[in-house]
Amino acid sequence: MIVDDIPHVASLDQAISFHPWSLAMFQEELTLGSYCRVAVATTDGIEGYLLARLLWDEWHLLAVGVAPEKRGLGLARTLMTDWLNHTLTTPSRTAFLEVGTSNRAAEHLYLSLGFIPIGRRKNYYSGPLGNEDAIVMARPIQRIGSLHDTPQNPTSIPF
Ligand SMILES: CC(C)(COP(=O)(O)OP(=O)(O)OC[C@H]1O[C@@H](n2cnc3c(N)ncnc32)[C@H](O)[C@@H]1OP(=O)(O)O)[C@@H](O)C(=O)NCCC(=O)NCCS
Repeated sequence: MIVDDIPHVASLDQAISFHPWSLAMFQEELTLGSYCRVAVATTDGIEGYLLARLLWDEWHLLAVGVAPEKRGLGLARTLMTDWLNHTLTTPSRTAFLEVGTSNRAAEHLYLSLGFIPIGRRKNYYSGPLGNEDAIVMARPIQRIGSLHDTPQNPTSIPF
């Protein structure tokens, strides 16, 4: 992601996120050197984005989104896979994220990539449609294929 992408990312996030980030927040992440990637950058804008930050030995997924007309094509899976492959090159142990309890698409994606539900934050998201709990998920920093056969991987969130 380059500086010129930020307004496009912020505008897409504004359009699709239950809890959108401001332009300044995206600019700050780029300045901090956080992991920031876009799926496709064209003169028309971008189709998807992913932001994550390394804090000590923990990766935190901050935002991931795909334009509605580009969903179901594997863009988010590619963004997540690229990020998880990048985490292997860093001195880190665990990746964390939060997902809204009603977000079936994201839940499916994260579970399929080896994230495990570890807790719930009450009323974590607030918006025009009301409050929503978040499920906290974690995943050890390991090669993606090595997690697929892990027997404790759930296929749905037990919280
Ligand atoms: C969640 C999101 C990023 C997924 O993007 P995407 O590019 O459509 O996802 P992909 O095409 O890579 O699909 C990933 C998986 O999710 C599944 N999926 C997609 N939409 C789904 C839905 N509505 N319900 C259940 N599963 C769904 C796909 O089938 C795919 O799994 P598969 O490979 O086993 O078939 C997208 O829906 C989005 O931007 N949502 C709004 C922002 C958001 O909620 N971000 C996450 C915040 S925690």
